[in-house]
Amino acid sequence: MRPTQLFLFVILFAVGLKSTGANGPSEYEVFDNTTKTLDSRFNKEIGLDYASDALQAATEFVLKTFGQSKTGGRGYDFILLVVESFRANGRPFAIATTNGSQTFMNADYLQTFPGNVKDEFTGILYFTSGLVWGWTGNGSAPVGLITGISDYIRLTAGWAYKGWPPRGSGLQWDDGYAITANFLAYCEGLRPRFVLDLNAMMIDSYSDAYFVKLLGKSVNELWEDYKSEYTTPGPAPAQTFGH
Ligand SMILES: *[C@@H]1O[C@H](CO)[C@@H](O)[C@H](O)[C@H]1NC(C)=O
Ligand SMILES: *[C@@H]1O[C@H](CO)[C@@H](O)[C@H](O)[C@H]1NC(C)=O
Ligand SMILES: *[C@@H]1O[C@H](CO)[C@@H](O)[C@H](O)[C@H]1NC(C)=O
Repeated sequence: MRPTQLFLFVILFAVGLKSTGANGPSEYEVFDNTTKTLDSRFNKEIGLDYASDALQAATEFVLKTFGQSKTGGRGYDFILLVVESFRANGRPFAIATTNGSQTFMNADYLQTFPGNVKDEFTGILYFTSGLVWGWTGNGSAPVGLITGISDYIRLTAGWAYKGWPPRGSGLQWDDGYAITANFLAYCEGLRPRFVLDLNAMMIDSYSDAYFVKLLGKSVNELWEDYKSEYTTPGPAPAQTFGH
């Protein structure tokens, strides 16, 4: 076995544990499972202390956005974040995954991220915290709405990614991620607490009719209204190739 293979199989880890009496769960734990990776950027540029604080801040922000206190609608009292190489653990590539109150962040993604990895880490945590606490209509809500709500969390917390498509982008309201996040921000502008109420309604089931109930218009009408605010009349933009 070559040394590069070896360090991936040696399982050593560092742990950051944080107890809190404030709003939200009583315990947060962060595992740094990258400590045997050479030049771990998580270890060098982010670190356990920052990660624990950011996890708590993201959780509290989500609970506030959803109008939930203490352990929220889901009742999680213990929140776990594991930063690990998905490749080394045989997981398919993803930036991060969540399972209940557990979040797994892919150290491979952080390792090669072009730019400020601490900011990106923080933004991802706000996104995954949205996934951890949000309702999904018992699995029946469009995936694009779920990722959109999570990026709405990231957006409103001030951790939007600079490379996101601009407001007004997208083909459908539930394209997901930043596209849906910006649409939800528009809806929130029409009616404060819109996202809070929508999430609360999604506890057991989901229907597009929730938009009518909350805003008096169908979700497609709202999408048209939103799009028309960003239509710039004038010549079509020059064609560009690549990016
Ligand atoms: C990483 O974190 C988990 C927590 O889920 C811990 O149990 C485990 O020992 C650590 N190491 C690896 C390689 O998973
Ligand atoms: C999610 O977590 C539960 C409980 O910890 C575990 O039983 C289950 O296997 C996990 N699911 C996945 C896909 O990892
Ligand atoms: C949620 O969905 C599962 C199966 O997908 C079903 O068994 C369960 O009854 C549903 N719960 C509610 C509250 O509708």
